[in-house]
Amino acid sequence: MADTSAATTDLRVTPQPSGFGAEIRGVDLSRPLPPDLLRQVRDAWIAHSVVWFPDQPLTLEQLEAFTLQIGPFGHDPYIKPMPGHANILELRREPDEKATNFGAGWHSDWSFQETPPAATLLHSKVVPPVGGDTLYADAYRAYDSLSEAFRRMLAPLNAVHSASRAYGPSGVFARETEARTMQIIVSPEADKTVVHPLVTTHPESGRKALFVNPVYTVGIEGMTREESAALLGFLFSRLTQEANVYRHRWAPDMLTLWDNRCTSHLAEGGYDGHLRLMHRTTVAGGRPTA
Ligand code: SIN
Repeated sequence: MADTSAATTDLRVTPQPSGFGAEIRGVDLSRPLPPDLLRQVRDAWIAHSVVWFPDQPLTLEQLEAFTLQIGPFGHDPYIKPMPGHANILELRREPDEKATNFGAGWHSDWSFQETPPAATLLHSKVVPPVGGDTLYADAYRAYDSLSEAFRRMLAPLNAVHSASRAYGPSGVFARETEARTMQIIVSPEADKTVVHPLVTTHPESGRKALFVNPVYTVGIEGMTREESAALLGFLFSRLTQEANVYRHRWAPDMLTLWDNRCTSHLAEGGYDGHLRLMHRTTVAGGRPTA
């Protein structure tokens, strides 16, 4: 049986003033968490959507094991995983790399999948001295900020999601001319589309969130391209407006866990000349529902 005896001291959850995002200390993620502690960590994650754990020098195996405590691995298409670790992506940008940093547009991970990942975990190994922050947008708050009349209008709508703009044969990675360390897989599969409710109900919190993002949401079912662009443009700007955004500054050996069902995120650049190295896993989710 796994040794969980010394897995924790005292759990301390420190939320941001807005309630969106929280730091968690007093837990050792290198060991299996006892059920009660795991429940407290999960509760904090569901309550604050993005949580981070400083000072967690995890091995790849420990990252995998903690991910599996949150839930089964998600499926990560279009990026070659680490050798010997089919469920870990290495997000690596070398000091001399000129290609745009990975994840530079606002997105919710793999929202083009029938069942997008519920969670993403990102573990920092090498953090640049400048730049390289991750920004998170609160999709609950974005929804809550809309008028009743606007919410009623959105309620029956479905949004069309696709990986085409990123990973399709005509997408940004296919057209890229600068060398990139990460091995991206461009595929015609990426041109497929999937439809999800535009407003979703979170299966655990019961709260409603805007489930759209500028990278993968390519239209609104039944609307013309012009109509979709106008409505989505408004929703994207509402989602990512400053009041809804938490800026995360990394330190080495920090683990961040976010909820893709109610957030979008963007990886900032600004660290040319410096290595940035992170390890990422995802946790499978269900089909988004209205
Ligand atoms: C991503 O998962 O989109 C990348 C986030 C980051 O590197 O900060």
